Amino acid sequence: MTASERAAQPTTLAPLRRSDIPRCVEIEHLLFPGDDPWSAAAFRAELSSGAYYLGAYDGDGALLGYGGLAILGTRGNYDTEVHTIGVVPQWQGYGIGAALITGLLAKADALDAPVFLEVRTDNDAAIALYEKNGFVRMGVRKGYYQPSGADAYTMRRPPVSRNEVDR
Ligand SMILES: CC(C)(COP(=O)(O)OP(=O)(O)OC[C@H]1O[C@@H](n2cnc3c(N)ncnc32)[C@H](O)[C@@H]1OP(=O)(O)O)[C@@H](O)C(=O)NCCC(=O)NCCS
Repeated sequence: MTASERAAQPTTLAPLRRSDIPRCVEIEHLLFPGDDPWSAAAFRAELSSGAYYLGAYDGDGALLGYGGLAILGTRGNYDTEVHTIGVVPQWQGYGIGAALITGLLAKADALDAPVFLEVRTDNDAAIALYEKNGFVRMGVRKGYYQPSGADAYTMRRPPVSRNEVDR
């Protein structure tokens, strides 16, 4: 498929299916080869934990990307964390990552929860995506990613009710 055909393809967001897990594992290996890509067991544990996972699908139902938000705490006092977001390499740059983060943040906003995440300090694309969506850098975790030993920024987006004040 050419770049212009990709740009013209409709994509859909929907809850990630357990049947997508094998493809998620393949995509993880493409995206995070040096940083302990997630196993099928890790994805199954996430989906069983009540985390909010979205998949992005093409018109034939093929998985193009996924994102997951863990929901912690209790009613009225939720915290959330973006645990993963990824788009298959050929489909990067077509707005799928933006759509996935928008979907995850809509869930966090419905809970009026802050959102936390870690991102490699050299991951300019992801950092730009997060900063565009209201995240600010909080600090650095040295050697957070293994086995690469790469550092991570911790980032936070305030609860939607604090947007005017904090953003
Ligand atoms: C980060 C990632 C999810 C972005 O998904 P994507 O579908 O390629 O991104 P989009 O096309 O929706 O672009 C959304 C925004 O991200 C940023 N962005 C995306 N690619 C970028 C690049 N190559 N350089 C700089 N910024 C970039 C821009 O802010 C962009 O907005 P703009 O197009 O208005 O400038 C994708 O690059 C990816 O899967 N990367 C590998 C996995 C990864 O690093 N995940 C994050 C782990 S914390």
